[in-house]
Amino acid sequence: MTPSAPVRYFALIPAAGVGARMGAACPKQYMPLAGKLMLLHVLDTFASCDAIAHTYVVVSKEDGYIDEALAGARHLAGRVTVLHEGGATRHQSVLNGLKAMRATAGGEDWVLVHDAARPGLNCELIERLIDAVKDDPVGGLLALPVVDTLKRSSPEGRAEATVPRERLWAAQTPQMFRHALLLRALEQAAEVTDEASAVEALGLQPKLVEGSPRNFKITLPHDVALAELHLKGNP
Ligand code: C5P
Repeated sequence: MTPSAPVRYFALIPAAGVGARMGAACPKQYMPLAGKLMLLHVLDTFASCDAIAHTYVVVSKEDGYIDEALAGARHLAGRVTVLHEGGATRHQSVLNGLKAMRATAGGEDWVLVHDAARPGLNCELIERLIDAVKDDPVGGLLALPVVDTLKRSSPEGRAEATVPRERLWAAQTPQMFRHALLLRALEQAAEVTDEASAVEALGLQPKLVEGSPRNFKITLPHDVALAELHLKGNP
């Protein structure tokens, strides 16, 4: 009897967005942040994490930045594979990436999907997620319990109601699922903005693992200064 191959952990980074809300000259994942491109912060973090077997990054078909970005990051050679498989939405980019990974990843291998726009992730958070989820039958994600009082607005922008925040979490990434399950979930789901929503639509309940405020998503120009503060203080 041949022993079954050990389960591996792969990173999949959707980086095919244009970052329109940032209003920058280039897609936001290629903006410099604390002396390094945003995407390289993320790729370096996964490359420095021993648990991660390999990282795949999904860029758009017409991406004109990635080759130059990686040319200046020789230490990532052999650790990162670029897939020019970006789709019209994040959902489609992740799905295309999962299909392209099929040549290497087995159905039982874990995939950690992480936004290129969250450069505050560090190895400690990746390990926290893996430790909490590696024996889980469903999978899970980093998330933060909501601490603010939540208001639902009227169409006129007035506070119409207060929404109880008990048991409410704000989803972050990485979101970690087995390759076969995630592929099936994203193929079957209507358009979703994260992987967990697609898995929930199968009737499953992903595990919530406490993330960190430093792992916030850079969306608007004023997010940049806060991200630099985190990255310079504690890379
Ligand atoms: O735009 P937003 O910040 O929600 O994007 C989250 C992540 O999804 C980013 O890393 C972005 O590059 C990626 N994305 C993608 N393909 C798209 C749209 C967004 O890979 N069509």
